Amino acid sequence: MKAVVKLGGGLFKRDPDVEALRTMGKALSTFAGEGNQLVTVAGGGQNARVYIDAARKLGADESTCDLIGIGLTRANAELLRLALGGVGVPNIPTHLSELNHLVGVGKVVVLGGLQPGQSTNAVAALAAEITRADFLVNATDVSGVYTADPKKDPKAKLLRSVSVEKLLSWAFAGDVYAGKYELLDPVALKIMQRARIPTRFVSLEDPSNITSALRGRDIGTLVSYT
Ligand code: UTP
Repeated sequence: MKAVVKLGGGLFKRDPDVEALRTMGKALSTFAGEGNQLVTVAGGGQNARVYIDAARKLGADESTCDLIGIGLTRANAELLRLALGGVGVPNIPTHLSELNHLVGVGKVVVLGGLQPGQSTNAVAALAAEITRADFLVNATDVSGVYTADPKKDPKAKLLRSVSVEKLLSWAFAGDVYAGKYELLDPVALKIMQRARIPTRFVSLEDPSNITSALRGRDIGTLVSYT
């Protein structure tokens, strides 16, 4: 199968957790080794937010903050590429157009950010569209999409499925600043909608959640299209 996996910033700690990265790399390289084509996308995590905050305090505009965020996502992508061992492709692409030359069965392409004005969720959606991926797994630090922020609201309920229109209404209600694109930014959702990319949100705490979702298990939250 052809798949894209977005690894949320939760995997990329302030002090990188080498063991967690190694475990994730092993799970993903095993999946690729089973005859699958995989593109992975690294989020920015806490380091991106810390650098963006510092830049903003120093007077940077939002596009400059985004560019700084992109730099940090690429640093995370380099760590992930190393954690994948031999199956990771040698370079982190900087343009979407490079992708189709790099993907292949048994190899894993690793991406970070691409351009200002979006999050790495948009990168993952674009990568899924251009490679005609069968599936996009978006792994975050919670178990899927909830009715409210589960870290703030104990009554928040996990949704087993959610329409792209619902996600779009939430995304447009939120703010769009460097380092703070809501759950999914509008660019990501619009790409998912136009390409009708089968997408599932899962927790990245256990890498087997990701590989189970790729193998068709009904976990986390599935995105629906009308
Ligand atoms: P993300 O927002 O995607 O990482 O990128 P995150 O904050 O760790 O979020 P999750 O947990 O993965 O969902 C970090 C920042 O890098 C910039 C944005 O400022 C973003 O907030 N960025 C990233 C871009 O400007 N363009 C991109 O293509 C990707």
